[in-house]
Amino acid sequence: MSRIAVAGATGTVGTKITARLAAAGHTVVPVSRAAGVDLHTGAGLKEALTGADAVIDAANAFPSDPDADVVEVVAGATRLLLDTARELGVGRFVLVSICNIENPVFDRNPYYVAKREQEKAVAASGLRGTVVKTTQWHEFATNPAAVAFGDSEVTVGDWLIQPVAADAVADVVAELVVADDAPDRVELSGPETVRLPDLTARLLSVRGDARPVVSVPAAIPELSEGVQLAPAGARIVGPTIEEWLRTEAK
Ligand SMILES: NC(=O)c1ccc[n+]([C@@H]2O[C@H](COP(=O)([O-])OP(=O)(O)OC[C@H]3O[C@@H](n4cnc5c(N)ncnc54)[C@H](OP(=O)(O)O)[C@@H]3O)[C@@H](O)[C@H]2O)c1
Repeated sequence: MSRIAVAGATGTVGTKITARLAAAGHTVVPVSRAAGVDLHTGAGLKEALTGADAVIDAANAFPSDPDADVVEVVAGATRLLLDTARELGVGRFVLVSICNIENPVFDRNPYYVAKREQEKAVAASGLRGTVVKTTQWHEFATNPAAVAFGDSEVTVGDWLIQPVAADAVADVVAELVVADDAPDRVELSGPETVRLPDLTARLLSVRGDARPVVSVPAAIPELSEGVQLAPAGARIVGPTIEEWLRTEAK
């Protein structure tokens, strides 16, 4: 059994990864501010990573200061994790990232540029690294990056996506982190394409939320045209949207 530090252990996918690793008998060390570890300042990080066999980076260390340099702060958190892991002799590192971010249409999207920098840092780290790149998750149906909840309506960017369930992502990450023969890169997608406003409307309906969904143009036009669909060679994993919505309704 392994000791695995999970950065972002309290987040959407980190919670699910943590549950799977614990169920498999591994010792999970949470790395998040709620657990007393800050990836911006480094507070508590050495203590958390000491004795770990592997580190998973499923954090989303976005700066709270609107004037901060998103690329530096978000990529800097991953670099700090990598540097600390190397210093402490942790050999294995898995990063959760996003499909298609290398497309030039995202050159001026600071968050996607930060994710590119994270991927480069893993490749350059000298650690045995795996980058798990996924399409948007079903849970993206309520993500503030594209969805704004108002009192009387919900506005949703008209992205065309091919969502995958965060549960399925967690299954793959939890398996890969302890695999001896993991590749350095894996791409994952769900089985169906959908327009984000439709996905959000279906989720709100299942939740009994009567607010209408208003589709608005995506911030980057190519997002409406399929730039975020599954890349060639991606591993396609269920559930379908309908199956996922049924679990959300319970
Ligand atoms: N959402 C998607 O559709 C999607 C698709 C592909 C890839 N991804 C990637 O998946 C990763 C995880 O996303 P998510 O939606 O699961 O994240 P999330 O729900 O927003 O959770 C973020 C996690 O990061 C931790 N965190 C934030 N700032 C921190 C800091 N300064 N120090 C330590 N921990 C910090 C949070 O814990 P505390 O608040 O306790 O610090 C929390 O555990 C991200 O890298 C994202 O790019 C997301």
